Parts: sequence; C-alpha cells; structure tokens
Amino acid sequence: MKAAITTTAKYLPEEVLSNADFERMLDTNDEWIRTRTGIRERRILKDPEKATSYMCTEVARQLLDKRGITAEEIDLIIVATMTPDMSFPATACLVQGNIGANRAWGFDLSAACSGFVYGLYTGAQFIESGNCRKVMVIGADKMSSIIDFTDRATAILFGDGAAGVILEPASEEGYGVLDARLYSDGKNGREHLLMPAGGSLHPSSHETIDKRMHYIRQDGKQVFKAAVTSMADVAEEIMQRNGLTGDSIDWLVPHQANQRIIQATADRMGIGMEKVMMNIEYYGNTTAATVPICLAELDEQKKLQKGTNLVLASFGAGYTWGAIYVRWQ
Ligand code: UT7
Repeated sequence: MKAAITTTAKYLPEEVLSNADFERMLDTNDEWIRTRTGIRERRILKDPEKATSYMCTEVARQLLDKRGITAEEIDLIIVATMTPDMSFPATACLVQGNIGANRAWGFDLSAACSGFVYGLYTGAQFIESGNCRKVMVIGADKMSSIIDFTDRATAILFGDGAAGVILEPASEEGYGVLDARLYSDGKNGREHLLMPAGGSLHPSSHETIDKRMHYIRQDGKQVFKAAVTSMADVAEEIMQRNGLTGDSIDWLVPHQANQRIIQATADRMGIGMEKVMMNIEYYGNTTAATVPICLAELDEQKKLQKGTNLVLASFGAGYTWGAIYVRWQ
C-alpha cells in the first residue's frame, strides 16, 4: 500500500520582519524586494533560547492533537533541516524526547530547500515496506540563525518556520504518495549556495568568524538559472510519467524561493497561477518548511479533498531538487 498524508500542521513565529524593516537596516527597498522575489515580510524566531527543535515540537504536538493519537503511536520521526539546534544530537531526537515518542526512532535529513520533499519520499518508503505505520515528516529551519544581516543579496530572502505531516498506509489503492523523481548535483551546486564553515572542513575558529563564514553564501544568479530549469524539468517529468496534464493537476505546491521561479515552473507545466500555492509574500523562503507550510495552509482552507491531484516541487542547495505526485485520500 502507498503512504498517504493523513494530517498536516504548521508553526510560524509571531515576530514579523517586513521589507520596511530591512529598508532601515540595509541599502534596499520594498519595491526591489517585491518585484525581484515576491516577498513582503517574513517571520523571525526572536527568542535566542528557542531553535529549530522548538518549532518542530510545536508542529509535532499539533499533528498528534489533530490526528487524535498519542506520541507512543509514532514509529519514526524525520526532521528535514539545515539549521539543526546542534550538529548532534539530531533535532529529530530532541523532538522525539520533547513529545515523548518513546517507541520512535528518528534522524535529520540534510537536503536544504528540498529537505521536505526528500523526507516525504523517504518516509513513504518505510510505510510502503510495512516497517512503519505512522511516520512524522517535519521540515523546519531557523534561517535567521545563519543569515548575514549585512548582506542585502541574501538577508531579505529568508524566514523562520516549520511544518509537517503524518504519513500512514493509504486506505485505498490509487491514493497517497504515488510517484517521485529526486535529483542531486554536487558538481555544479557546491560552490553557489553554501555555509562554508562550522563543519569538519572549516571548524569554527577566530578566522572563520572574522571571514563571516558561518552565514549563507549564495550566487543568486547562478542558483536562479539552475532552479528555473531544474524545477520545471522535474515537474514536467513527473507529469509525463503519470499521464498528468495542466488540467488534471489541482495544485502545484512549489518551494517558495522566488515567485519568478514558481511562475516559470507553472508556465512549463501549463498551469494557471490560480492553481499554484503561493505564500512567499508572507513568509519568504523558510527552506525545508516552505512545501509543508503550503500543504498545511491548503488543508486549513479545505482545498485538499479526496482525489485532489498535487505536484510538489523543490530546488535547493546541493543542488538538490525533485517532484512528488500525491493524490489526496
Ligand atoms: O531556496 C534555495 C534556492 N535559492 C533560490 O532559488 C534563489 C535564486 N535566486 C534568486 O531568487 C535571485 O537571483 C535573487 C532574488 C537572489 C536576486 O535577484 P536577481 O534578479 O538575480 O538580482 P541580481 O543578483 O542580479 O542583482 C541585480 C541588482 C544588483 O545591482 P547591479 O549590480 O545591477 O547594480 C544587485 O547588487 O540588484 C542589486 N541587489 C539589490 N538591490 C536592492 C541585490 N540585492 C538587492 C537588494 N536590494 N536586497
């Protein structure tokens, strides 16, 4: 049996950082940010005592509440993030401990903006194999912890947030996570979008701090070009493999990095923007959280009914990218 998404939930911090706030901090302006990216504001988890596991735990508790199950029923917790609380232990273990999921194992998955898409497909394998009955997949990033707030080219793009789903065996054939195409390209991706220090290559030192190597570095133009091509290619591929057309797809749920990348993907798929889930305006790029936040909002708005055809698509650091076809049960 395929894996179906049975529950969704999201957590966004309350603190809003608007384009006007950035105008006061950097040489930028609301018009540039809106027209180049589609972003008006983003959320920031201000409390220095709270990190990614806090947001994940909020999501996990909501998921349990909504599904009406106890934490002991969860078999596996996958947290997709590139801003874990610490290198180790895994954020998934912190969440497991916080909610008391005493039977669950778990791990963090590092695939940047494609983290949730990678995680959803990974989690689905454990359901399909019969090894697990209930898997939590959460995408979360506290991007404000790695943003260089003096770099106008990257600072305005990102926000903090978390969201997730519970995967369970689909109750009928033909529903659930039906197909996926996932890719990576470390040859071309490694130099254009990265955080250079803090790992085993450049452990933290006075020098790495002086050189501002603990922040995101992005060559926006290069990443933009790769994202436009790859996200559209993989979305088209998943359509062809599954006999989908622009008409038969109900929602494109794309990673929210830039509204122009999303538009290009929708155009290639032959989908009107009215069938594209977009909330980049309010949250910016929350990295691993964008796709599940979109799913949670569609669900809140009762737009996910039995038989709704969804294509999820992402592109991010690595490079990593992919698309998943989900038929809602
Ligand atoms: O989620 C992970 C994947 N990441 C992405 O998908 C991001 C992909 N890249 C992008 O979305 C876009 O490349 C950006 C939004 C980051 C940048 O947009 P762009 O249209 O590629 O702009 P650019 O980098 O070519 O910069 C154009 C101009 C430059 O000035 P000059 O050289 O033309 O004088 C920049 O210095 O805009 C300037 N600029 C800004 N101006 C005002 C760059 N950042 C800003 C800013 N405010 N915040």
